[in-house]
Amino acid sequence: METLQSLDEVEHLATRRLSKRAWSFNYSAAGDHISKRLDQEVYRSILLRPRVFINAQECDIATTILGHRVGLPLFVSPVAMARLAHPAGEAGIAAACAVFGALCIISNNASMAPEEIVACAAPGQVFGFQLYVQTDRTESEAVLARINNIPAIKSIVLTVDEPVPGKHEIGERGFEPYDEVHKDVTSQACTPDTDARVALPSVSGPASDVEWKDTLQWLAHHTSLPIIIKGIQTYEDAQIAATYTPHVRGIILSNHGGRVLDTAPPAIHTLLEIRRYCPEVLRELDILVDGGIRRGTDVVKALCLGARAVGIGRAALWGLGAGGGAGVERVLQILAQETRSCMQLLGVRKVSDAGMHHVNARIVENQIYHRY
Ligand SMILES: Cc1cc2nc3c(=O)[nH]c(=O)nc-3n(C[C@H](O)[C@H](O)[C@H](O)COP(=O)(O)O)c2cc1C
Repeated sequence: METLQSLDEVEHLATRRLSKRAWSFNYSAAGDHISKRLDQEVYRSILLRPRVFINAQECDIATTILGHRVGLPLFVSPVAMARLAHPAGEAGIAAACAVFGALCIISNNASMAPEEIVACAAPGQVFGFQLYVQTDRTESEAVLARINNIPAIKSIVLTVDEPVPGKHEIGERGFEPYDEVHKDVTSQACTPDTDARVALPSVSGPASDVEWKDTLQWLAHHTSLPIIIKGIQTYEDAQIAATYTPHVRGIILSNHGGRVLDTAPPAIHTLLEIRRYCPEVLRELDILVDGGIRRGTDVVKALCLGARAVGIGRAALWGLGAGGGAGVERVLQILAQETRSCMQLLGVRKVSDAGMHHVNARIVENQIYHRY
């Protein structure tokens, strides 16, 4: 793992090792993959503004999320079915997060039970649990009752951006990036498919009738854990979320890694909109972002624009596919090292010092069509 220098190299190795099924599950996105591509490209359009002659010897990349201290301004977003990528599954991801004190958000569609995932948690390790509200609410109520009994889980992450599934066409279009890598490999995938399946299976299916008030009231009846709403894609919805404080304590600006509605905006667009039209929300809620993170410079740019922390989805699964828990650890290590050196080179000694004046985001601001 030590020889892997970048997330691109991790993905390349995982592509060689994974079965076609596991690879396409991780890689795929909705429609023409425009949102997935833009999630990465947007960071490349933001330029850094390094300040010089600042003592860069000490640099602290720890921060807090919902008041919990975390070792990194980076967290693992909820990703389903991790055991497809490696038998270590979600427990492997959790173990890697423990090494860095990073927040780990468990998917409602994880391939291991939540109790199993937190079983080897390090003292003080912080988890979130992501919930998809089910059509038959009693199914979700039973899940919440279990989660309420797991002390390491400190928040419910309510995903709201997928009332109906996105359209993925990768199977029909072929697997060019996969086949290209595999053409030179004599033995195919090293990691056999396990009999991975969702550990908390849904009978009634995900609900498509959820609405703000009723859903949040219902949730408050079934858990006292703070809520983070995942999948906010406009400043208007960020403003609405803020009216539900203190029950709602955070939002994740996310287009689900481009997997649901193609051409939905990258999180950075929504963050810039919030800065412009309702900056008070940055003080009222912890704003997290995910989508397209490949470099520590991406992490720092998001922090400069007001994100409290930044999530990775596919990168964690590529790490798992490349080397199990050690692969995820390497992914977090690469990002942590790059984040720290970017902050040092910018003259930023702690996460809360990263500010708007450290970036030039004008190219992206000009791309944002939503003007008043
Ligand atoms: C294979 C895969 C499975 C995912 N499963 C879930 C899930 O169960 N729940 C959820 O809220 N988001 C899910 N997501 C979305 C991630 O939480 C996250 O928003 C996204 O992956 C971030 O983009 P990135 O992959 O470019 O980092 C999934 C993403 C991937 C790639």
